[in-house]
Amino acid sequence: MSLLEISHVDISYGKRITVKDSNLTMDKGEICSIVGESGSGKTTVIRAVLGLLAGGGKVTAGEILFEGKSLLKLNAAQWRALRGHDISMIFQDSGAMMNQTRLIGNSYVEYIRTHENISSREAWEKGAEMLGRMRLPDPDRIMRSYPFQLSGGQRQRVGIAMGMTYQPKLLLADEPTSALDVTTQAQIVRQMMELRDEYGTSIIIVTHDLGVASYMADKVVVMKDGKIEDQGDRDYMLHKTDNAYTRKLMEAVPSLGGKRYV
Ligand SMILES: Nc1ncnc2c1ncn2[C@@H]1O[C@H](COP(=O)(O)OP(=O)(O)OP(=O)(O)O)[C@@H](O)[C@H]1O
Ligand SMILES: [Mg+2]
Repeated sequence: MSLLEISHVDISYGKRITVKDSNLTMDKGEICSIVGESGSGKTTVIRAVLGLLAGGGKVTAGEILFEGKSLLKLNAAQWRALRGHDISMIFQDSGAMMNQTRLIGNSYVEYIRTHENISSREAWEKGAEMLGRMRLPDPDRIMRSYPFQLSGGQRQRVGIAMGMTYQPKLLLADEPTSALDVTTQAQIVRQMMELRDEYGTSIIIVTHDLGVASYMADKVVVMKDGKIEDQGDRDYMLHKTDNAYTRKLMEAVPSLGGKRYV
């Protein structure tokens, strides 16, 4: 059984069908990158997987199965049990998602306490331990900081730590590195790959960067105008596909075939 199976899915905001007839299958421990131009529907697809479509977005056709069970039939309580535990999401700028007027530690404690009935003190310790595991130096200082007191890379590691608190089976990452400089980007990408190796986490990463996509992903999915145009492994993307759009995207990344990206 696949971990995630998206089949023939349409997603609409209001009357307009935004994502059309999309299919994607993911196995446990697989890393999949979604690439494609702005507005092609990448965020829409991963938000649908987490049941968090904005603006009245709805899956209007097809099926999304997680471990063989339909995600489209879950009620609010079932979603609460699943989100954060089995599937979590990290955002483009985790810092911006956090309350700027609260200490990271307090936000983290609140997050943990929505999932687990433990004391604030225990939650604080658990949070600090996760930050340490994400190799954030001096976790206690980070817990006692406000989001704006951290660097972009540190904030993103905090976001990943939060997303990984319960070692989800599937991590959805929407452009998690695009706000960062190239060196920090490379570190975060490596760290996400280590999560897969260490915990067997499957990852869907949305990225504009085909270099990142091909470097880290077992499978690359190319979206265009709300449709999955093409998908396959790195070798297929680089050498085998005869999809004109994929080839055009690939040609725009001259270093891909030769130099290692990270
Ligand atoms: N909340 C919303 N209400 C209405 N339309 C939306 C909403 N969110 C996205 N859309 C539309 O859906 C389409 C796909 O948007 P989406 O955000 O999935 O693109 P994307 O591939 O993630 O783009 P980007 O690379 O810019 O993040 C766009 O045409 C967008 O206008
Ligand atoms: Mg997007």
